[in-house]
Amino acid sequence: MERYRSFLKKILIPEDALQKRIAELGEQISQDYQDSQQLLLVCILRGAVMFLSDLCRHIHVPHAMDFMAISSYGSGNRSSSGMVRITMDLNTNIYDKDVLIVEDIVDSGNTLSYVMKLLSTRKPKSLNVCTLLNKAERREVEVAIRYTGFVIPNEFVFGYGLDLDEIYRNLPFIGVVDLEKYGA
Ligand code: IMP
Ligand code: MG
Repeated sequence: MERYRSFLKKILIPEDALQKRIAELGEQISQDYQDSQQLLLVCILRGAVMFLSDLCRHIHVPHAMDFMAISSYGSGNRSSSGMVRITMDLNTNIYDKDVLIVEDIVDSGNTLSYVMKLLSTRKPKSLNVCTLLNKAERREVEVAIRYTGFVIPNEFVFGYGLDLDEIYRNLPFIGVVDLEKYGA
């Protein structure tokens, strides 16, 4: 038996629902950016990797991709704090480009708010956010989110890019963790 079964409280978003919604997001993005000459998808590592790789296959506008890694510290590893740090920056000059940030989940909003402020100083032509998941009720800092896959309740989730202590990013669905059974 798969080890995660013992602490999987429930499957919140099954694989088919994820893929259906991601296809819709890709179609919407393709329409909105149809006239864009320089679309750049910026994937926030590591959680958004699965999402980016499925989403980009539904985006029919020519686009580049780049990656950025962020670490957030100052509190436990189940929540982020206002202390955000870039651990790997982009390789691309984003000046005058249409930048679309691809993120796994927006929780407090601290991470994205920091990234948006930083990237906007580099004067992109446009700067928008596409997040797969949005824990709206947890928001501490307002961030303008252009595309949202799913608004989810305030529970710790894993799978499809989101990790539990770095493991289980490979699962094809989004599951809710039973933190007591997990032993966290
Ligand atoms: P924020 O800065 O509080 O918005 O947090 C965003 C980051 O926290 C995400 O990019 C995730 O890496 C992580 N995170 C927040 N909630 C969860 C969760 O339920 N499961 C896994 N990671 C999470
Ligand atoms: Mg993340």
